[in-house]
Amino acid sequence: MLQGLMGKAVAMAPDSWIPGGEPDPLIRVRHGHVGKPVSRIDGPLKVAGAAPFAAEFPMEGMVYAALVYSTIAKGRILAINVAQAEAAPGVRAVMTYRNAPRIARPPVFMSDQKAAGGDDLPVMQEDFVRWNGEPVAVVLADTQEQADHATTLVAVSYELETPMTDFASAKDAGTRTAVFMGQALHQEIGDAEKALAAAAFRVDSHYSTPRHSHNAIELHAVTAAWIGGVLRLHDASQLVAHTAWSLGQMFGIPEDKVVVTSPFVGGGFGGKCLWQHQVLASMAAKLVGRPVRMVLSREGVYRIVGGRALTEQRVALAADAEGKLKAVVHTGTTAKTASNMMAEPFIVATRSMYESETFKLDVQVVELDMLANTFMRAPGEAVGTFALECAMDELAEALDIDPVELRIRNEPEMDPTSGLPFSSRNVVEAWRTGAERFGWSRRSAVPGTVRDGEWLVGMGCATGTYPYYRMPGGAARITLNAEGRASIDIAAHEMGMGTATAQTQVAAERLGLPMGAVSFHYGDSTLPGVVLAGGSQQTASIGASVIAAHRALVKELLAMAGNDSPLAGLKPDEVASRDGGLCRIDDPARHETYVSILSRAGKGSISAEGEAPMPLETQHWSMHSHAAMFCEARVNSVTGEVRIARFLGSFDCGRILNPKTAASQLRGGIIMGLGLALMEETQFDERNGRIVNASLSEYHVPVHMDVPDIDLIWTDIADPHTPMGARGIGEIGITGTAAAVANAVYNATGKRIRDLPITLDKLL
Ligand code: MOS
Repeated sequence: MLQGLMGKAVAMAPDSWIPGGEPDPLIRVRHGHVGKPVSRIDGPLKVAGAAPFAAEFPMEGMVYAALVYSTIAKGRILAINVAQAEAAPGVRAVMTYRNAPRIARPPVFMSDQKAAGGDDLPVMQEDFVRWNGEPVAVVLADTQEQADHATTLVAVSYELETPMTDFASAKDAGTRTAVFMGQALHQEIGDAEKALAAAAFRVDSHYSTPRHSHNAIELHAVTAAWIGGVLRLHDASQLVAHTAWSLGQMFGIPEDKVVVTSPFVGGGFGGKCLWQHQVLASMAAKLVGRPVRMVLSREGVYRIVGGRALTEQRVALAADAEGKLKAVVHTGTTAKTASNMMAEPFIVATRSMYESETFKLDVQVVELDMLANTFMRAPGEAVGTFALECAMDELAEALDIDPVELRIRNEPEMDPTSGLPFSSRNVVEAWRTGAERFGWSRRSAVPGTVRDGEWLVGMGCATGTYPYYRMPGGAARITLNAEGRASIDIAAHEMGMGTATAQTQVAAERLGLPMGAVSFHYGDSTLPGVVLAGGSQQTASIGASVIAAHRALVKELLAMAGNDSPLAGLKPDEVASRDGGLCRIDDPARHETYVSILSRAGKGSISAEGEAPMPLETQHWSMHSHAAMFCEARVNSVTGEVRIARFLGSFDCGRILNPKTAASQLRGGIIMGLGLALMEETQFDERNGRIVNASLSEYHVPVHMDVPDIDLIWTDIADPHTPMGARGIGEIGITGTAAAVANAVYNATGKRIRDLPITLDKLL
């Protein structure tokens, strides 16, 4: 039934997608499971209400938790009066720093391969407060309502210290060069400022982007219990194995004494990592000797889950009369805390986007007394491409060159700042097909000239880009049973993006089985692997691990098949999976089914585990996805209101494994980009570090009425240096989008808004 599914199969070297190896044979498959628009296999469970989320696991004797948050940014707790709260109906206990179990600090994310903490501050261990909103008490009660009510009865007084919460003052006090993933965010090639001063054409502008807060539909939640010395967490997580290890470190127990499951997650976007709620719930469960459920309120998410930091960026571009770039300057400042390692890396995209003779790239950072900032969808690229791609639009106008054409003229042959060849780069194709489909040629180059009644209409475009990553530590296990069914076990994550579906397709293809014969198990820290759902790299990481496990399985199956099999004498490299069994790659007739191999051996099942090789591919190639984004905006000349009329994303993301789930990811990214462009802004009171719009009702995100038809196309050109030929698709949609919107607004109105979000007051 799956004959021909492997296409022109090639021998799979042990390191097939890494330097010197053959491409993964699955990238040649054209008519099998890979590439089919399969609906999400978890969909029916969700619509039937049968998918248990973190806050829905019932536990015997469970109590409900609610948090009391500090109202100062820095200082000592003088007194906490919990007597009234403790006496309130249903209240079982109130936990503060005085009675909380003693634990170690969280391992901060990026300090260790398995570290998951948003920061490394002590969790309810001291009488000291370090950000405005830090939890100072946990109320535990028989119902959520009783717990919520009792939090209002806790009285806290503080001795205030002067916090550093003002960005301008912090900058005046001194900045330092930011570091991201161990690399200083600074690079200079040639003398860019000199080239800028000497150039025939130049633009030089400042752009700013505000703080953003995470607003996943599913609130951050955890159900925690200590059962026989094992800490058991039902979490909403994008890193279960990291969370288990990190909690083990904090509680001083081995990581296998912490079990974290997260089968369904209602959105992550970088926010569903380890924050105080999982730790506090685990501590509270220990304190009261009962399971604890902690669901953050909408306000709670703003108080204890970090978001995107603000940025101030300068982009200066210089070009000759033909539009060839002579200088790219992209510098600026962002903020973090002293307790985390995440400086918003807004220059990362600029490193590989355009050819230029000179570069000056630099991110400075200041440390503020605030909730630790963190990853939010395309950290760096989302806001960095806003500045860079607005500047490209400004340069195009200065040169009187079409903005699409200007970008194509500056297409690099190899990575302009690393000198590496690109693994696969087809952004020019994405530009041309996108421009054609969008009807870009109908754009008026003169701003403010197209009118539809009181609406001004304009078109804008921008490049989106996001790097390919793959992280080490990925083991996976494949088990085949006597009925010829396979299960794939890996501690990976399904946050609603279609991972379980796409990976079932890929595994079925790799094993030569129908999809119905494959089950993909994930979201459990006891499964093999340390996979992070982040950096748009989970698909490649799982793929690499499953390739390794498949190779181990083939080896063991051949050994089990023995001399009586049609496969006798074949080496693993000569064998492929096809039609429910193994066959010789160039002679499919030499075939034996898994069922036959197992039954002749008298075995009920066979299991093999493999570990993905180190991700060396990014040391040999510059690996990035790209997109050409096109926007049509309508701006009301009376009210300044912006409506997005049309949007097209034309993508080059390698092989698309499942067009249906991929489209949903790309579209979702673009929608989040529309929010970045027009709405999202965390209002941070610089006097006291308080977030004042800590509620989804006062923090605007796009709703259905704000989202136009979003058209999506892609090149579907496989990247030979990635597993399955695929690069990530989770984050790229948000990149370039804000610039495409801003450029369309400029084209409509002649008003250049360089400060996000583009609200109507800025257009009047
Ligand atoms: Mo993403 S910000 O790496 O979850």
